[in-house]
Amino acid sequence: MKIYLLIFVLGFFFGKNQVATFRFPESQTTPSPVEPQDQVLYVLPRSDRQAVLLRNITSSFDEMIILWMPDSPEHIEKNKEVHFYVNATIVDEVKSKLKESAITYTILVENTQSLIDQQTYNDTSGQRSTTSYYEQYHALEDMTGKEKTATHAIWIDCGIHAREWVSPAFCLWFVGHAVGFYGTDEYMTNLLKYIDFYILPVMNVDGYQYTWTTNRMWRKNRSKHPNSECYGTDLNRNFDAGWCGPGASRNPCHDTYCGPYPESEPEVAAVANFIRQHKDTIKGYITMHSYSQMVLFPYSYTKEKSKDHDELLRLANKVADGIRVKNRSRYASGAGADTIYLAPGGSDDWVYDLGIKYSFTIELRDKGTYGFLLPPNLIKPTCSEALTGIKIISAHIVKNI
Ligand code: ARG
Ligand code: ZN
Repeated sequence: MKIYLLIFVLGFFFGKNQVATFRFPESQTTPSPVEPQDQVLYVLPRSDRQAVLLRNITSSFDEMIILWMPDSPEHIEKNKEVHFYVNATIVDEVKSKLKESAITYTILVENTQSLIDQQTYNDTSGQRSTTSYYEQYHALEDMTGKEKTATHAIWIDCGIHAREWVSPAFCLWFVGHAVGFYGTDEYMTNLLKYIDFYILPVMNVDGYQYTWTTNRMWRKNRSKHPNSECYGTDLNRNFDAGWCGPGASRNPCHDTYCGPYPESEPEVAAVANFIRQHKDTIKGYITMHSYSQMVLFPYSYTKEKSKDHDELLRLANKVADGIRVKNRSRYASGAGADTIYLAPGGSDDWVYDLGIKYSFTIELRDKGTYGFLLPPNLIKPTCSEALTGIKIISAHIVKNI
């Protein structure tokens, strides 16, 4: 059994003083109930007019409104759920705007700060040997490891998008499970005889750090762009696969900014180089995101079917069925472009076009009840169902190599 933990340290991104002064903000205590909290609102636009209004509202309050679903305003459409995070200072204003326009909303999450506090609270006595370690979210400095070489391997990465915390939680959990239950979990023990795993627990290290210190809703990395005041590139729009076509933005201020050129970001270049160098051993690629509960495969940069569409669809359906039967959770399955939307520059498409057929994106829990603020007690069920999925994909790969 070999499990490699990969850590990319992007040292030059951390200004010295940032490293030296890193501390949780003092204000991280739960506000008293009278103090207004940031809220997540849910709207189902009933007409094109409402969709346009929502597009305007969600793109006009710079940083004060953060779109959770879909991930860019241009994807807001009639009869498709819209979830957005509203800063406490403008909650009332936004609600009255919606009322004025006769748009009905519901509040998805009312107590965001309490959820955030719950997620950043760590039992400091928590050891990796205790299961509770894997049922908490962990800051970057809690995770470490090193790298070697393998023969047949599956790559799993987590944390491409900073705010999708359950994703890195899954990677840690997976490693803990594989190591801790080696010999006990028969299926896993067997699997590990044939295949090695490369695990990258957090691809977007700077972004993830930023969600712990400054802005819980941050998605991109933290790179600085020469002609803009805005920070960050969407790492899942920066791979060289239909780069910056429809579904990505050329504006550095947008959440789906594709970067100045493909692989411009060190995180993406590092991953792409590693996978290029190991493309003959890496037989499967799985990238973990949240949220919306989906099993996706290429393509996302085009509506065209890939040449392996039928096989990948069968396998994705099998994963969704397996999770439904074993874990009683519902996951949708399909090619990215028809299941969610066109989203070019993604890692799964790039890996697929490199020649690694079994390439999947798994969108973990939930479907919007908590969204990115999935409480820690849901880490475990989320990880067990994801593990079900990964076992099914791995078994198929082992059979086909
Ligand atoms: N929510 C993910 C994103 O927008 C979906 C990834 C699917 N794959 C892709 N290549 N876009 O990045
Ligand atoms: Zn994501």
